[in-house]
Amino acid sequence: MKRTELRNLLRQMTLHEKLAQLTQLDISFLTSQTESELTGPAQRLPSGYAARRELGSVLGGTHAELSVSLQRQHLEESRLPIPLLLMADVVHGFRTIFPIPLALGGSFDPALCEETCRAAAKEASSAGLHVTFAPMVDLVRDSRWGRVMESTGEDPYLNAQMAAASVRGYQGHDLQEPGRMAACVKHFAGYGASEGGRDYNTVDLSEGMLREYYLSSYQAAAKEGAAMFMTSFNTMNRIPCSANSHLLQDILRKEWGFDGVVISDFGAVMETIPHGLSADAKEAAEKCLRAGTDIEMMTTCYLDHIESLVAEGKIDETLVDEAVWRVLELKNRLGLFENPYKDADPVREKAVCFCQEHRDLARRAGQESCVLLQNNGVLPLKKSLKVGIAGPFASSKKLLGSWSFFGYEDRTVTLADGISEKTGPDKIRIAMDTELGSLRKGETDVPDDIQEACRVLADCDVLIAAIGAHPDDCGEAASLVSLGISPHQEALVRAFRQTGKPVVSVIFTGRPLELGEICANSDAVLLAWFPGSEGGHAVADLLYGDCNPSGRLSISLPRSVGQMPLYYNRANTGRPLPPGAKRGSFVTGYLDCDFGPLFPFGYGLSYSAFRYSDLQISGNTLPLQVSVLLENISDRAGTETVQLYIRDIAASVVRPIRELKGFQRVHLEPGEKQRVCFTVNREMLSFYNQELQFVYEPGEFEFILGPHAEGGCAARIFLE
Ligand code: GLC
Repeated sequence: MKRTELRNLLRQMTLHEKLAQLTQLDISFLTSQTESELTGPAQRLPSGYAARRELGSVLGGTHAELSVSLQRQHLEESRLPIPLLLMADVVHGFRTIFPIPLALGGSFDPALCEETCRAAAKEASSAGLHVTFAPMVDLVRDSRWGRVMESTGEDPYLNAQMAAASVRGYQGHDLQEPGRMAACVKHFAGYGASEGGRDYNTVDLSEGMLREYYLSSYQAAAKEGAAMFMTSFNTMNRIPCSANSHLLQDILRKEWGFDGVVISDFGAVMETIPHGLSADAKEAAEKCLRAGTDIEMMTTCYLDHIESLVAEGKIDETLVDEAVWRVLELKNRLGLFENPYKDADPVREKAVCFCQEHRDLARRAGQESCVLLQNNGVLPLKKSLKVGIAGPFASSKKLLGSWSFFGYEDRTVTLADGISEKTGPDKIRIAMDTELGSLRKGETDVPDDIQEACRVLADCDVLIAAIGAHPDDCGEAASLVSLGISPHQEALVRAFRQTGKPVVSVIFTGRPLELGEICANSDAVLLAWFPGSEGGHAVADLLYGDCNPSGRLSISLPRSVGQMPLYYNRANTGRPLPPGAKRGSFVTGYLDCDFGPLFPFGYGLSYSAFRYSDLQISGNTLPLQVSVLLENISDRAGTETVQLYIRDIAASVVRPIRELKGFQRVHLEPGEKQRVCFTVNREMLSFYNQELQFVYEPGEFEFILGPHAEGGCAARIFLE
């Protein structure tokens, strides 16, 4: 539709119709035949909404036929021809589920991330969805926070690369292109810094910390053209984000020039009341609309109170018009005025959802996302060996992680399936595979069938412990004070160790766990995260060497939960811990725990071995080249992720001891050498000074090229 026609449509709208465009309710409002079927927040709303259907968009997944019928009925019942936007959480896949974002971030492969988002958009759009509430780009340093699984980890640069790749994958260059959908970046902003890792909790960050670490991924997504942003539940410096004009106006709209739609998170407008910012729903409506939240999700403060605020002169209707205009423009960018059904097509839905191409992609994504933490040579396994598998994930299909409710869990490839396909069913024994219950349901451990398991597996050549955490105990409202693996699972690994046979532990989890005891009792440890629909195939491919591990850690793995928040790009302090310092000396550290992570950000092994040497810096003026000679010194081809870190030795504010500023996945044949080069420019060395200016300061810098945040070749240079 031409903009002039769109303007004319806006002019025809009554104020109430405009406010309907700024209201999003759950799909149940349109599908429930009676009020009594409405559940959750729906029941708290005034009755009659189901009848009045006063909405501009709907939250919830659908099938193509349902999408078409909802849209058709809505248009038939509406005075003006304004189609609904259908939105849902397609976070790491729709029907085909890919590894959780925390895992995919560890692939250090933005192109792969883009491919998975592209595939998810093809599937979701064929079912009639127009918008996905993704990518989630919150930086996370505290794994007590369950939503760490939705993030791509602790690093601003990696998160920014993955955020931009996700937007490209979902949106492409034209939202009207078949198979594309609008991306809604979340949760703006700083949700991952919730105090104590407690969900929905307070966030208090200096502006410098906010900008230096937390905002870069949102900014990258906005720069990539993300169509929408979602405000987060938390306060940012004492103001709830849905009512935070510093975030929504000063930064998002004025500084970054974002002109898309902002939607609140689920009920977050009304939640400004319990937050203590709004006295009532009317004040909530006024504060959030004025701050810049366009669409109110799952509550009706706008629909119920903005008309009186306008009548009282407290809100100017032009403010409403600006918000509605952005919503109409998004519908227009999607082509919904010409084709309200966009890509909804039952035939295409059947052909594209869970298709072999997407499952192959999921398998590859799983292969690239799993992280080999430890291996004394027991891996890769020989297919001739008899394998004993025990633990709650031995034959579990719960490998998808949370936000996978559109996926076909029953068609997930289990670890036992994957291994059996390699070895043949006669070479695999399974024991103690009762699934882990969820803490949410009060179940804390698996039954102690350890002795029985050791007896059943007594004639096996190698023992695999398939252990971890329940997927329902990661994700939203899943904060934990402990990151331990359950006692019986740890005891199983210790019992395996007592047998004297090779022990391989495979960890399925949506968050970092304390793995010290597991590592101490295993010959090899593979962190599978929640690897998705093809998880069993991907893990088996890695265990048997049909694929060489290349995954890296997108987040530091702790020795103890007591170390939280834990991250590599920390400040040095005035008393840094010298190598080999004893606990209790007067330097930064803990009396009861070794310093630093169990495994650092960026870490991951492969079946190859790589040597870094001869770091070179091309000069002392910017831009300059930093390079290192990388050699595959093993007899196996493999992929190494070379990481570029910088350190600003002294500046007007203290700078981190390392900052990731680049990475390259390099494939080398046995014996092959390659000089891996990075260009360093002024922007990469710039930072927010005390006056919050983004500046470059001459001085001494250190450049490091290496395999993770605690290793590599380093050199210092003075730059003007
Ligand atoms: C949830 C989540 C958000 C999600 C929204 C809609 O509470 O915080 O990530 O997109 O509601 O489901």
